[in-house]
Amino acid sequence: MDKKVTVIGGGNVGATAAQRLCEKELADVVLIDIMEGMPQGKALDLTEAAPIEKHDASVTGANSYEMSADSDVVIITAGIPRKPGMSRDDLLSTNMGIMRQVTEQVAKYSPNAKIIVVSNPLDAMCHVAYEASGFPKERVMGMAGVLDSARFRAFIAMELNVSVENTHAFVLGGHGDTMVPLPRYSTVAGIPITELMPQDRIEALCKRTATGGAEIVSLLKTGSAYYAPASAAVEMAEAILKDKKKILPCAAMLSGQYGINDLFIGVPVKLGAAGIEEIVEIKLTEDEDKALKHSAAAVQELVDTMKKL
Ligand code: NAI
Ligand code: 2OP
Repeated sequence: MDKKVTVIGGGNVGATAAQRLCEKELADVVLIDIMEGMPQGKALDLTEAAPIEKHDASVTGANSYEMSADSDVVIITAGIPRKPGMSRDDLLSTNMGIMRQVTEQVAKYSPNAKIIVVSNPLDAMCHVAYEASGFPKERVMGMAGVLDSARFRAFIAMELNVSVENTHAFVLGGHGDTMVPLPRYSTVAGIPITELMPQDRIEALCKRTATGGAEIVSLLKTGSAYYAPASAAVEMAEAILKDKKKILPCAAMLSGQYGINDLFIGVPVKLGAAGIEEIVEIKLTEDEDKALKHSAAAVQELVDTMKKL
C-alpha cells in the first residue's frame, strides 16, 4: 500500500481498528503495544487471514516505534478502558501519562502524521497529545462524535424501522455525560427526526446515546465498547488517507469557533489530507448553545485538573 497507519495500543479497539484498516486496504498497518509478543501475534494472525479476506495490506506488530516511521496517520488507543462503575474521567491520571509518552514517540518517528486520539477521557487526552506532539492543531484530533453519532443513528433506525443508511446524526460536545445530540440536525432521508417522532421518544434516544458507552460497559463487565469505536476511528482515518473532505463530528482544538477558545471539543469538521481542513460552524439555538458551553465547561474542568496532577 502507498499509505501507512500506525495503531498504538493493540487491545480491543486497537486490534479491531487494525483489522478494519487492512481489510479495507486503506494502508499498511503497524500495531504497537507494550505487551511483549501481543501485537506481533495479532499482526501475524491478521496476516494469515489476508488470503481469505483477499487483501494485500501488510500488518506488522511491534513493541517499539521504529517500524512506525513516517506513518501518514497514527491512531492512539493506548491506555486503560473503564470498568463498571467507572466514568471515563476516572481514567485521567493513568492515561495522561501513557498518552504523553506515546505521543512523544509518534512525534519523533512520524513528524508529519495526523494523530487520531481514541483513549479516554477523550477530549482531555487530545490536549495531552497536542502538547506532547507539538503538532499544529489541524493534525491532532479526537474520535468521539463519529461514535456517538453512529450510536444515535443506530437508535433512530431501530425506532423508525428504517435503514441505517438513511440516517444522519450530529452529536457535538465532549465525550461524556454532557455530550450534545442535535435532533434538529439529525435526519432520515434528509427529514429532521423532529418531524418523524414525538419529543418524548427523541429525548429517550438522546439519553440512550449519551449513556451509550456505559450501557455497553455494564453488559461487557470487563471493558468497554470496541467494534463501533474502531469503525469510527477508521472512518476518520479513511477520510484523511483518501482526502475525502468529509464532514464528521470530531474533537478539535477551537480558537474562537462557537465562542470557545483553546479547548478540544466535538464539533463538525472537514477531514481531508491535511487533517482538519475546516471547522464547520452550524447555527445553534440558545438551548443547544447552552448545552455545548456546559459540555465545554466539563472538559475545561478536566484540563484544569490535569494541570494539577
Ligand atoms: P484495552 O485494554 O483492550 O487496550 C489498551 C491497550 O493499550 C492494552 O493492550 C495495553 O497493553 C496498551 N497500552 C497501555 N499502555 C501502553 C503504552 N504505553 N504503549 C502502548 N500500548 C499501551 O482497551 P480498549 O478497549 O482498546 O480501549 C482503549 C482506550 O480507548 C481506553 O482508554 C478506552 O476508554 C478508550 N475508548 C475510547 C472511545 C472513544 O469514543 N473515544 C471508545 C472506546 C474506547
Ligand atoms: C465509549 O463511549 C468507553 O468511551 C467509550 O464506549
